[in-house]
Amino acid sequence: PKDVGILAVEAIFPAQYVDQEQLEQFDNVSAGKYTKGFGQAKMGFVTDREDINSLCLTVTSNLLRRYNIDKSTIGRIEVGTETIQDKSKSVKTVLMQLFEEEGYTDIEGIDSKNACYGGTAALFNSLNWVESSAWDGRNAIVVAGDIAVYPKGPARPTGGAGAIAMLVGPNAPLVVDRKVRSSHMQHSYDFYKPNPLSEYPTVDGQLSIKCYLSALDKCYQRYCTKAEKELGVKHMSLDQLDAFLFHSPFCKLVRKSLARLVLNDFVRLPADEAVSKYPALEKFVGVQLEKTYADRDVEKASMDSSEDVFAAKTAKTLRISNQVGNMYTPSLYGGLISHIISRSPSEHAGSRIGLFSFGSGLSASMFSIKFAADGSPGSPLHQLCSQLAFINPMLERRTCVPPEDYTKVLADRERDHKLAPYTPSAPIDNLLPGTYYLTHVDEMYRRTYAVV
Ligand code: ACO
Repeated sequence: PKDVGILAVEAIFPAQYVDQEQLEQFDNVSAGKYTKGFGQAKMGFVTDREDINSLCLTVTSNLLRRYNIDKSTIGRIEVGTETIQDKSKSVKTVLMQLFEEEGYTDIEGIDSKNACYGGTAALFNSLNWVESSAWDGRNAIVVAGDIAVYPKGPARPTGGAGAIAMLVGPNAPLVVDRKVRSSHMQHSYDFYKPNPLSEYPTVDGQLSIKCYLSALDKCYQRYCTKAEKELGVKHMSLDQLDAFLFHSPFCKLVRKSLARLVLNDFVRLPADEAVSKYPALEKFVGVQLEKTYADRDVEKASMDSSEDVFAAKTAKTLRISNQVGNMYTPSLYGGLISHIISRSPSEHAGSRIGLFSFGSGLSASMFSIKFAADGSPGSPLHQLCSQLAFINPMLERRTCVPPEDYTKVLADRERDHKLAPYTPSAPIDNLLPGTYYLTHVDEMYRRTYAVV
């Protein structure tokens, strides 16, 4: 099949959020730490009415409805999540409720787990299937969803929640480039969830940032080498890409990551060319990247050298991250949606973007997407872009909840999230029509849902 990639995108964010400026005051940290230091404005969170099953049910049923998808055309569903509701039963099997009543049960795929990387694993599995001998002509649905919550302390403001769904198949307006995917995978204890009784990760925040940045370097170097071979690009650099999207734990880390790619571009050039293109980096000729993760001089010089590139290629991809927080597996794809809605279809036509996916523990990949050459009205690219007009209104209609109430929701979750039987009590009146919500957990931990 030709032009295998993303045919349609859907997303759901929690109907309530906590304001990061209010949270700074409530947590008694210096003003600006979360808003400027992390680059975050709002953090979405769910009440006891929503869990990973309901988020994925909502986003998948919205995708089916918005794009009028005939269920007989779906041959695979892959879910990426690190929000483990059940140690055996996959979220994918829960999603089968949307298909089985009409007799559609011949659908492959289950869940992929590794921190924030599962959505990308699900996407790669789906692309591979469409390109393989096992493919039967049907499309795949990729779902990524998570609820990111942290204990009280420095990581709590870097939470978030949400889900995305993507339709994957041939003749797509967003084609995933073949043979250029690069990965870096390694064993590390930077962020992990060893305690089955707690929803919270065990996290070494500074180590996780170092892991993220070093995986970024490795993936970028490998991606550039492959792109030069496979895409007919003479010298790969950010100049060849119209935008660069990152997994976003918080926006400031993405700002630093883009600076890191500029530093990589500097290192990949012969010294004389490098210095004339990036004069502010002159004293770092010959620098060894792996020795610079804690080097503030290198960081400052590469931040200064990357301001224009950041504004042009990455700043606008952070809208959802800034407004919702770290959604974990959907984070990178929230970046994709933010990028799509930031430009017109004709501006996107023919462009190429780079994407970096990272999951602690750790697994990371880089890949690129080429937008279709035709963005005119009626084209598949134009349709995909137009369908996302609901995103900004959905972000705007959310309810702001005071930090006190947010803290109580998390304290109640700590107490209740493993209880059975359990009947949730949070109000449902602010949920968007079409949202699935939990009605009951019975004494055998079986969960039932209803739709607004
Ligand atoms: N005004 C402006 N900036 C401020 C202020 C202020 N009042 N106060 C602090 N800052 C800046 C700091 O200077 C720092 O910026 P810098 O990195 O450019 O120096 C930034 O805010 C963060 O401050 P730190 O003191 O480094 O933050 P802290 O150590 O308290 O927490 C951390 C940060 C480690 C990321 C924590 O939130 C965490 O553990 N989060 C979860 C793990 C995570 O997200 N890891 C990322 C990859 S893995 C994943 O996606 C889960």
